[in-house]
Amino acid sequence: MSTVTALPATAQPTGVRLRDVTKTFRRRRRAGRTALDGVSLDVAPGEFLCLLGPSGCGKSTLLNILAGFTPADSGEVLVGGEPVRGPGPDRGVLFQTPTLFPWLTTWQNVLYGPKARGAHTPEVEREAAALLETVGLADARDAYPHELSGGMRHRAAFARVLINRPRVLLMDEPFGALDAITRATMQRFLLELWQEHRTTIVFVTHDVEEATLLGDRVAVLSGPPGGTKAVIDIDLPRPRSYDDTETLAFVQAKRRIREVLES
Ligand SMILES: Nc1ncnc2c1ncn2[C@@H]1O[C@H](COP(=O)(O)OP(=O)(O)O)[C@@H](O)[C@H]1O
Ligand SMILES: [Mg+2]
Repeated sequence: MSTVTALPATAQPTGVRLRDVTKTFRRRRRAGRTALDGVSLDVAPGEFLCLLGPSGCGKSTLLNILAGFTPADSGEVLVGGEPVRGPGPDRGVLFQTPTLFPWLTTWQNVLYGPKARGAHTPEVEREAAALLETVGLADARDAYPHELSGGMRHRAAFARVLINRPRVLLMDEPFGALDAITRATMQRFLLELWQEHRTTIVFVTHDVEEATLLGDRVAVLSGPPGGTKAVIDIDLPRPRSYDDTETLAFVQAKRRIREVLES
């Protein structure tokens, strides 16, 4: 993968504010299942926030609420000071399974969003080409998703999201299904991308090491049902790389988070 400086300029990063957010999923003839029980959280513009918690504590629910896919039952959900009322191109969402249309090539997948919005211009095409260069897929622009490896599909999905210049990136265990080597490559790519562009990122993971490596802060969710347990500052120097995971400071930071998680 080449340097990320070839990326198009992203829009001004924006902050996120959650206050007392609750969500209960209704179930037929049974008591509803409370997924979120009063979550409050702030993410500063340009911050890399990791959301950590055990399985079922509502991490995906929270991300889906921020993305506008699911409405909260109560509480305040603001992105850039505006209440979230539905999905929008200001928020780019990446899941564990990359979202690509199987009948479109890499190039067509990347340009799908701008086309759908009527924003397909020569300038956008130039950005798409630069993006594919950046994510190392310039040679795969005419390939279909089934012809790409797992890591390549992820990078294609990345390019597809970044072409919209999102002000916030919402990532739900994006690298959870990748092998260790591809995962480390993607983490490095994400760190470089963020270092360069300082897009606000909310990154869901259940992996303490990943949260420590990536985040400025780690919000630990309790539950289920999910509530905010603690928000921990990661005071490790930037830029970070995978080599840092062996330093004493890193191991100590990891231990601190694990203690909170298990308390
Ligand atoms: N669409 C849904 N319908 C019913 N229950 C759901 C739905 N989505 C999530 N839940 C429930 O909400 C809780 C939190 O789920 P989720 O947000 O996926 O947790 P996490 O991502 O932290 O593993 C779980 O008990 C889950 O079963
Ligand atoms: Mg989840």
